[in-house]
Amino acid sequence: MPTTAETLARTGGQPISRILFSEEQIAARVAELGEQIARDIPEGEDILVLGLLKGSFIFLSDLVRQIKRPIEVDFLIASSYGTGTESSGEVKLLYARQASIEGKHVVLVEDIVDSGTTLNRLIPILQQRGPRSLEICALLHKHIAQNVVKEARWVGFDCPQEFVIGYGLDHSEKYRNLPFVGVIQP
Ligand code: PRP
Repeated sequence: MPTTAETLARTGGQPISRILFSEEQIAARVAELGEQIARDIPEGEDILVLGLLKGSFIFLSDLVRQIKRPIEVDFLIASSYGTGTESSGEVKLLYARQASIEGKHVVLVEDIVDSGTTLNRLIPILQQRGPRSLEICALLHKHIAQNVVKEARWVGFDCPQEFVIGYGLDHSEKYRNLPFVGVIQP
């Protein structure tokens, strides 16, 4: 567990309310998730781990090293689009290798499931590309999403209804590099 001084240094002087999940807790849980994924997907079949950028980049890089069998890794970049400041409620995939999904067991990696909007929009798009299976692995889950098109199969931690930062999660694009998940002071 970092000291308060170390924490303040890493947050540029902006105090955080508390550390929710320490570096050590995250490492232990990520190892368990990797083992579960390797166990749950049938032996000898193709696995494609897809990280949704940007938030998942640290979780993904740790997770794939804990899935101890041959896998492919790729990324998705998605964007909501509409007119002006109003989202149309649709998601456009800015980057996704079309050929990589078909016939594979796809593990979609998210840092956090909050309202569920992102996954509700992405899952149907990915399903259309013919994966052998499509499952979600999320580090954090707030359990507030309603009418989700697909529940996450593997979840690291239940997350309280607070604004969390670190380990890939940002506040105005900052704090993704914190090694722990914490709550930022309002
Ligand atoms: C965050 C996070 C998830 C999504 C979860 O992404 O990384 O992808 O929000 O929220 P939801 O369940 O309410 O849709 P964000 O759009 O902030 O982009 P980022 O990953 O680049 O930080």
